[in-house]
Amino acid sequence: MSETSSAVGIIGGTGLTTLSGLKITGARTVETPWGAPSSELTEGRLDGQPVVFLSRHGNPHRIPPHEVNYRANIKALYDAGVRTVIGVNAVGGIHPDMGPACVVIPEQIIDYTWGRAGTFFEGDLERVTHIDFTWPYDKAGRDVLMQAATAHEVSFAGFGVYGATQGPRLETAAEIRRMERDGCDLVGMTGMPEAALAAELGMRYVCLGLVVNRAAGKSDHVITMEEIEAAIEQGMSGVRQILEVSMAG
Ligand code: HPA
Repeated sequence: MSETSSAVGIIGGTGLTTLSGLKITGARTVETPWGAPSSELTEGRLDGQPVVFLSRHGNPHRIPPHEVNYRANIKALYDAGVRTVIGVNAVGGIHPDMGPACVVIPEQIIDYTWGRAGTFFEGDLERVTHIDFTWPYDKAGRDVLMQAATAHEVSFAGFGVYGATQGPRLETAAEIRRMERDGCDLVGMTGMPEAALAAELGMRYVCLGLVVNRAAGKSDHVITMEEIEAAIEQGMSGVRQILEVSMAG
């Protein structure tokens, strides 16, 4: 996965607060100029590859998506030597092929979040910087994840536009219809500004999504925590397998 010998950062989301299979060599509580990250950094090896794991919502899960300190999380991984980040995200499926427990490796993002601290480039700047963000997800990294999914026969969708919403509530059916008209295939609350912040620091970033429910209005029932938990239970082993295999490669 990593083109250099630098560690790969894995940001675990809902359902992935720890990473079994990681041979842990250390855990560090760190601070950044942007504050404290969501959790300690767990360092170790996954199939021989150095990995730094961070739990996006804290461990135990306690930080809602709109209160995650995305800047501190990305900066902490950067300072730990990470140059490739895999963001694991629980998402809702909008596209008909994206049902519960399906893994998604999207290629684009539309950002509907607001009020989040979404840039490192603010305050007392020497010059204004506008990063290119045409392709938010690293192509080579996406290919590695898709190859790993194929090798392990984990069913996945290797396409899609991730619509990042503010949360913490789920969407209305009309909001999902609007997002669909915009071209969104999946919806989640944590994809942004994480991906943009990684890009600002020149890091490679990929999203590994797990569909945990059909988005609002896309099934014949309202969304329940029970169905979300069942899909996590069913699908997270595939996510873990993809992570392990992609490290070995
Ligand atoms: N909407 C937004 N975020 C989500 C969803 C959803 O339906 N499911 C999991 N995260």
